[in-house]
Parts: sequence; structure tokens; C-alpha cells
Amino acid sequence: MSFLIKNGTIVTAVNEYIADILVKGEKIVAIGDGLDDRADKSVDATGMYVLPGGVDQHTHFALPFGGTLTRGFETSPAAAVGGTTTVVDFVPQPQGMGLVDSVTKHIEEQAEGKAAVDYAFHSVVMDVTDSLFDEIPKLAEEGIPTMKLFMAYKGTPYMVDDSTLFKALLAAKKAGVTIMVHAENGDLIDVLQKQCIAANQVEPKYHAVSRPPGVETEATIRALNIAGVAEAPIFIVHVSTKEAMWAIRQAYAAGQPVYGETCPHYLSLDVDNLSKPDFEGAKYVCSPALRTSDHREALWQAIQNGWLQVVGSDHCGFDWEEQKHMGRNDFTKIPNGAPGVENRLAVLWTYGVEEGKLSRQRLVDLYATSPAKFNGLFPRKGHIGIGADADLVLYDPKWKGIMTVEGSLQGVDYCSYEGMKQIGRPEKVYLRGKLIVDNGDFIGEKDQGIHLKGEPFGAAFNGTL
Ligand code: URP
Ligand code: ZN
Ligand code: ZN
Repeated sequence: MSFLIKNGTIVTAVNEYIADILVKGEKIVAIGDGLDDRADKSVDATGMYVLPGGVDQHTHFALPFGGTLTRGFETSPAAAVGGTTTVVDFVPQPQGMGLVDSVTKHIEEQAEGKAAVDYAFHSVVMDVTDSLFDEIPKLAEEGIPTMKLFMAYKGTPYMVDDSTLFKALLAAKKAGVTIMVHAENGDLIDVLQKQCIAANQVEPKYHAVSRPPGVETEATIRALNIAGVAEAPIFIVHVSTKEAMWAIRQAYAAGQPVYGETCPHYLSLDVDNLSKPDFEGAKYVCSPALRTSDHREALWQAIQNGWLQVVGSDHCGFDWEEQKHMGRNDFTKIPNGAPGVENRLAVLWTYGVEEGKLSRQRLVDLYATSPAKFNGLFPRKGHIGIGADADLVLYDPKWKGIMTVEGSLQGVDYCSYEGMKQIGRPEKVYLRGKLIVDNGDFIGEKDQGIHLKGEPFGAAFNGTL
């Protein structure tokens, strides 16, 4: 079966033009004019922007955190209606289990037959043993070219020390694996949290007090320095402060292969959300914490200028009533993370493109093309080009509405952006040539996603970035 997407404005990471896209089976086979004779049918995309399907490199489906678990892949249709056709999810490492086995188990138990979009993985280090580092080449062979280490969450299996980070960087470099880092100083946070609790400062707003910008900046600079000593590339996820962003920018300018991501919530929300009454502030407990508007504006500047390369959602489907309330009397017990896989493109479009802070090409790069490259999925994913998977979003820029939990597919009882305006929406979404969203509604199969294996070092280090 073939079809032609006609008269849309195609947006890529480098250009924008009106042309028709011929899809045959799962692939884009031609782009241009005069293709009508080669198609069985056509779809009119007049007035639409045709974007590559989004690649969200930062989702946490079925993440264990603070004694509870985020919603799993059964809620991944939310990604599709948000214009994301590929997610790269974090695989937790159960205690006593190796990294490769953790990945196999996670795929079998959590993802296979449950994903509505295509999926790839990052490995997460949570149980450090000497043999752990020997497993890194095998991880790369299994199509996992990225690993995340946490410098925060003291007292949980997540937090690693500097020597672990250093050893991981050395081993990863040899295997073509990119180390991703959650950069916050877990020791300082631990002291600050204990001070707050001792002073009976237990409400959600003290989450931000115990995680000030400096704890992120310090850890970011330390991670960059450790990577420098290891002479290894490093990727800092969910950057929220202007100082951390500047450190990444400066290190890159000085020739170090360092890269960074920020998230829609750091671009559109701020720290005041944590002070909402009646425990509503708990909805906004994520780490790093939300910041003041000066950080937000610096982050917009950074993504437009390429000082940060990716926007990932850091999607965590925790329910407010059922799960966030675990920290009703102690903010340190609120599970960290907020839902957002559904809203990533809409936030970037509404508060970036529509407000003149982001070009459409930069949006495409940040939400699809660069994450595909960093995760070794480019040019199959994140790209409109001949031979690429026909993952396409027909974005209607005239649609106007609000972001809300009503009708949300994220499977939780709140929306991080409740009541905020939204301009435009993915009207139709195709996954490998199959229409999975129509009129903004999910019409696909809940198990149609396939497992993707990433190439070592992605494309970030072979000259295409
Ligand atoms: O608050 C967050 N971000 N929770 C998810 C785990 C992580 O740190 O990415
Ligand atoms: Zn993190
Ligand atoms: Zn995360």
C-alpha cells in the first residue's frame, strides 16, 4: 500500500518547504512534486506542518521510585497523541542483577506487547559491582548505546559516587556507549532535606529549598571535569539552571564532547507551582526542582542557539491522589517526577515557536532529530528523508485549546500544564506508515510499537551532529 501526503509544509532540522511525501509500506520512498501516479491514495495536508515523529529520549515507564512505580507502557498512547512516535526509556537495574539481564527482563516484562509507539532503552546503574563495567560492551551489542548514572538520591540504590562515574566513563568510552548523568549533589541535598524536616518544613515547596540551583551547578561542573579526565563524552540530562547550561556550553566551546538536555517543565513552569495550596504543589515535585523565570529564559536561549541539544519530557506517570500523597507530611517522601510525554511538542510549539523563542527547524531538531542521533536511531528515526521510517506528524497550527487532564491518556489524575493555553496539535500521526492518531485521537493498536536497537555512540560522534 502506498499513499501520498500532499501540499503540507515539511519541516526538518535544517529547512522547510512545500512538497509531497510518498509513503510505501513503512518507509518514505520519495519527496517532491508529480508523485500522484505512484500512490494508491492521497491525504491532503494543506495548511499543516509535516514534522518527523518525535523521539522522546527521556521517559520513565514503570520506574520504581520511593516505594512506588510510575504508570507503564500501557499508557504510551499518550506519546502518540503528543506527536511522539519513539520513546527511549530508562531501564532500572534490580539489586543483584546485571545490566544486560536487567534490560532483557524489562523488555519482556514491561514493554513487549504493551507499547503503542516504537521504543529503545538506556540502562540505569543501580547496583555497582566490579563486573558491572565489563558488561558495558555487551550492552552496546544489545543495542543500548547509553547509560544513566545518578549523582543524587542519596540513601537509594540510584546514587553513585565519583569513582563509579569515572570507571563507567572509561569503560563506556571504549565500548561506544554514552554516559548520561543526573547531575545534582546528593550529599548536599541530604543535609538540606534533613535541616528542613528538623525545622518542620515539610510542605512540597521545601523540595526546591533543599535542592537549590547550586547543587545542580556543582554536580554538573564536577561531572564535566570527571568526563574531561576520562576523556569521554558525557550527556547531562534534565538541565534546569542557567549556570549548569553555561558550564556545558563553555566546556563544549573548549572542545569537550559534552551535551545537554532540558525539559518542557523547566521551559514553561516555575518554582511557585510548588507553593500551590492543599498539597497541589506535590504535582510539581520533580528533580531537579522547578526554578525561577531567569533560568527559564536562559534555557529558551540555550535551546534556540544549540547550547543544549535535546528536549526530553522526563515523563513520570505518578498519580497525585494515590502516589504523590505518600509525602503528605514529609516532602522527601513524595515520588519525584511529573507526567508530560503527551505535552512535549505542544509546549515547545506554544511557548517557543508561537512566542518567537524557537524556530520550527530548531523545534524539530530538539524534539526529534538530535535525540535520534544521540541514541543511535538516526536516520531511521527523527528525520523526514528517503529511506526513513514513515513516522510523521501533521501539525495543525490553527487549533487552539488548553492543556488538561480531561481526555489525557497518561493514566494519572493530573496534567502538569493544567489550564495552560495550547496552540496547534498533532492532527494526524503516522507510525511506520500506519495512521495511529486522527483528529487528535488515538486510533492505533496499543501493542503496535517495536523494539529498536541503537547504534553505539549514536551519530553524535561520527560527524553527523
Ligand atoms: O524527578 C525526576 N526527574 N524523576 C525521575 C527520575 C530522574 O531523576 O530522572
Ligand atoms: Zn534524573
Ligand atoms: Zn528522568
